[in-house]
Amino acid sequence: MGGEDQPNSTTSLLSRPYYSGSSSTPPPEKTTTTVPFISLLLTTCLALSVTVAIAILLFSSSLHHSQVNLQISEAIAKFSRPLPKLKHPVVILISSDGFRFGYQFKTDTPNIDNLIKNGTEAEEGLIPVFPSATFPNHYSIVTGLHPAYHGIINNRFFDPKLNETFTRPTGSNVSKWWFGEPLWETVVNHGFNASTYFWPGSMASKGKWTCQEYFCKQFNESVPFEERVDGVLNYFDMPSSEIPVLMTLYFQDPDAQGHEVGPDDPDITEAVGRIDSMIGRLIQGLKKRGIFEDVHIVLVGDHGMVGTCDKKLIFLDDLAPWIKISSSWVEADKAQLGIRPPANYSLVDVVANMTKGLKKVNNGKHLKVYLKEKLPKRLHYAASDRISPIIGLVDEGFTVTQSRPGGEKYCGGAHGYDNNYFSMRSIFIGHGPRFAKGKKVASFKNVEIYNIVTSILDIKGAPNNGTRGFPNKILVPSR
Ligand SMILES: *[C@@H]1O[C@H](CO)[C@@H](O)[C@H](O)[C@H]1NC(C)=O
Ligand SMILES: *[C@@H]1O[C@H](CO)[C@@H](O)[C@H](O)[C@H]1NC(C)=O
Ligand SMILES: *[C@@H]1O[C@H](CO)[C@@H](O)[C@H](O)[C@H]1NC(C)=O
Ligand SMILES: *[C@@H]1O[C@H](CO)[C@@H](O)[C@H](O)[C@H]1NC(C)=O
Ligand SMILES: *[C@@H]1O[C@H](CO)[C@@H](O)[C@H](O)[C@H]1NC(C)=O
Ligand SMILES: *[C@@H]1O[C@H](CO)[C@@H](O)[C@H](O)[C@H]1NC(C)=O
Ligand SMILES: *[C@@H]1O[C@H](CO)[C@@H](O)[C@H](O)[C@H]1NC(C)=O
Ligand SMILES: *[C@@H]1O[C@H](CO)[C@@H](O)[C@H](O)[C@H]1NC(C)=O
Ligand SMILES: [Zn+2]
Repeated sequence: MGGEDQPNSTTSLLSRPYYSGSSSTPPPEKTTTTVPFISLLLTTCLALSVTVAIAILLFSSSLHHSQVNLQISEAIAKFSRPLPKLKHPVVILISSDGFRFGYQFKTDTPNIDNLIKNGTEAEEGLIPVFPSATFPNHYSIVTGLHPAYHGIINNRFFDPKLNETFTRPTGSNVSKWWFGEPLWETVVNHGFNASTYFWPGSMASKGKWTCQEYFCKQFNESVPFEERVDGVLNYFDMPSSEIPVLMTLYFQDPDAQGHEVGPDDPDITEAVGRIDSMIGRLIQGLKKRGIFEDVHIVLVGDHGMVGTCDKKLIFLDDLAPWIKISSSWVEADKAQLGIRPPANYSLVDVVANMTKGLKKVNNGKHLKVYLKEKLPKRLHYAASDRISPIIGLVDEGFTVTQSRPGGEKYCGGAHGYDNNYFSMRSIFIGHGPRFAKGKKVASFKNVEIYNIVTSILDIKGAPNNGTRGFPNKILVPSR
């Protein structure tokens, strides 16, 4: 189903700021002629020894790599590890909002590193769906559906049939917005318990899932992260047949900091460290109960983050000589554009006039507007009348907005861009009996996760946009 979706179809879009292996060697410092010969010699010696050290490092890491590969083939040859303490496989699905791929290298993350070392990792990150925004992506992760099919096509959107606008948080518990079958519904439909310590969509009743108080927490971003982790751990103290087989856990960091300060700031580093310590708290709690090796942990993020600033703005008002775009037409802006002109306008004309104007206005070449049906197919962003009829794709790091700001702060971070940008990638790490130790897999789209989780839980999932057979590439067979 997702065959045409291979991420390398447009690799030209990829930028890899955190992943340029060769840039780890700093360029040798230039020595001027005024420097005495002896110090030149010293510098050369130093440079030489650094080179040798790096060579040794590289050699030992490649050695380590082949050991890991050996471990992988052993693990794959065998079957999953047994579950002595749990009656049924359990998956804890954790999201760290806006955890851009590469953040794990910013600071010491010993707990995340342990999950990676003894688990399976998407080595170059997890690919979000378009738009790379929070609600669409969280709901794609738990339904396996592209936003056009699960209904949450953005964080805020207009439904012409309902003649209503979905907003956070008021739409969060209203079932009519949320299509598809989320994992918690699949799980309770199979007669198991499921729990949600926050996740977009979890507060809406669906099928047998009614968001019962004990199992389904009402979103409240002030609840301390420690309390969330402990809440999840408490479920393991239930009688073993009643333990939820799916538990979600959500942290709003480091997204919150990323928007404020952009991806490269000490605040991010600190937030990442804090997320790692929460993973550590979870691991310790599971170890204390003797079940760490039995539980499946799936750690993901919803999207990445890229720096934005005031020199990279595009203003719709600048297009006035070609077309006057009323702010009431604009359904999405910043990292993508969504426009719904009134019915008496020709959409083709609006696109044509905008395209003409964008050739002339400041930064205009960094925004491309399309009738949604003409967007690249890989975005799957057309098959819903909730999607604005005209969509603009914005170049990485640029933002589009109505008018020139009145002294507003515009430097910070954003996401929502084309999901092919490397900066929009997040992480996928799986740990537990069905995940081989030390296994690395290629990047994949988050719509595959639904089938991975139903495979681990050994339940039949609802039809979705994941690729048939994909979980077999990620998981080791169950015994
Ligand atoms: C990986 O798992 C093994 C046991 O299977 C354990 O001895 C080791 O400490 C674990 N490594 C890490 C980094 O957690
Ligand atoms: C849609 O709702 C608005 C108020 O929010 C109302 O003014 C308008 O008449 C409604 N349109 C239709 C077609 O019902
Ligand atoms: C959704 O939450 C609001 C505010 O907490 C509440 O008033 C409303 O009754 C809830 N709606 C549903 C369908 O649960
Ligand atoms: C949200 O959580 C905080 C911290 O636990 C608490 O003080 C507050 O009352 C909660 N708010 C709601 C609406 O429950
Ligand atoms: C779910 O947990 C409740 C306890 O809150 C228990 O009464 C019930 O039997 C459990 N359901 C299943 C299917 O295990
Ligand atoms: C588009 O531009 C043409 C002139 O090139 C103008 O006549 C027409 O009114 C414009 N359309 C809109 C919707 O502004
Ligand atoms: C569409 O109708 C509005 C009034 O409702 C009018 O102001 C506008 O000029 C019309 N536009 C076109 C392109 O016909
Ligand atoms: C995605 O899955 C839904 C539900 O099975 C289906 O209706 C839709 O056609 C699928 N879309 C694509 C692009 O595969
Ligand atoms: Zn997010």
